[in-house]
Amino acid sequence: MTIVSIGCTAGAITLSGVEIHFGEGRHAVRAVAGIDLRIERGEFISMLGPSGCGKSTILGAIAGFTPASRGEVCVEGERITAPGPDRAVVFQQHTLFPWKTVANNVEFGLKMRGVPRAERRKTARDILRHIGLGDFLEHYPHQLSGGMQQRVALARVLVNRPHVLLMDEPFGAVDPITRARLQHELLRIQGELRKTIIFVTHDIDEAIMLGDRIAILREGGVLAQYDTPEEILTHPADSFVERFIGSDRGIKLLALRRLDELELAPLDGTPPDRLPTAQGATTLRDAVSLMITAGSRELVVVNGDESARGVVTLDMLAELDQGETR
Ligand SMILES: Nc1ncnc2c1ncn2[C@@H]1O[C@H](COP(=O)(O)OP(=O)(O)OP(=O)(O)O)[C@@H](O)[C@H]1O
Ligand SMILES: [Mg+2]
Repeated sequence: MTIVSIGCTAGAITLSGVEIHFGEGRHAVRAVAGIDLRIERGEFISMLGPSGCGKSTILGAIAGFTPASRGEVCVEGERITAPGPDRAVVFQQHTLFPWKTVANNVEFGLKMRGVPRAERRKTARDILRHIGLGDFLEHYPHQLSGGMQQRVALARVLVNRPHVLLMDEPFGAVDPITRARLQHELLRIQGELRKTIIFVTHDIDEAIMLGDRIAILREGGVLAQYDTPEEILTHPADSFVERFIGSDRGIKLLALRRLDELELAPLDGTPPDRLPTAQGATTLRDAVSLMITAGSRELVVVNGDESARGVVTLDMLAELDQGETR
């Protein structure tokens, strides 16, 4: 008998002693090994771990596709036994209907629910405009780029107003620039809609940038650490997590802070045009990169109108209190 230690409560997704096995006898695989996890309503959780460690299986269990062999999965206090409209899944390979237009793809779920044509048209149009695809309603998926197709896939699930978004490496197949755009788009949507999101990725920087908390799994479907990005980077739970997040975790920590947060040094008469410049929203990681690229130990922080606000130096960044790193 599994000890249910978290319990089924409202306001959260809970996994209590969840074990998931596939196959029988000699061919049996334990994909998830007794996991306890609590995700608060409105949280953005990144899920990381080596291939085969059970990430997709966990998403499948929350979606209601894959039953837990032991333990229980609950969403908002209800035990999950089947898929439901409150939970939507977005996969790496979008699952758009190639023979339907963008608008018809997005309307599909509403049509299935018997929403009248005029209303579903309007809802689809509104959401597509909202994500910057208002000019592509009558296009077919093959006429769009991969990143645009992924946005349509997101619109198609958002139109059903799910509370929970389960995203399985959704940006894994797009180029880095499109990926950065999609990440910002997702953060913007999350800022407005406050869904509960579980986002599986193999990209540690993406997990750090997007997640309020990160769940790191290890082989055998074991939860290695579940904490904020800061805490994981400053206090990895063990040598597996330490190796997994990489030896550049000091640099990764710099990605969590922005120039705006620093007390800047005054400009001491150096002509600013000889130094690299960056806006306050620039991450400290990008600021270091700018300084190294420009061969400078200093960088001028500028306002939106390019007027100088102050100076940051490499020494200042090296001396920052990053929390006690182990
Ligand atoms: N339907 C299934 N039948 C049998 N075994 C399965 C099934 N689904 C997953 N597994 C096994 O369960 C384990 C976990 O698989 P899962 O797909 O959850 O891993 P993952 O962490 O998502 O990996 P990846 O990063 O490669 O996507 C693997 O050993 C996999 O082979
Ligand atoms: Mg997977």
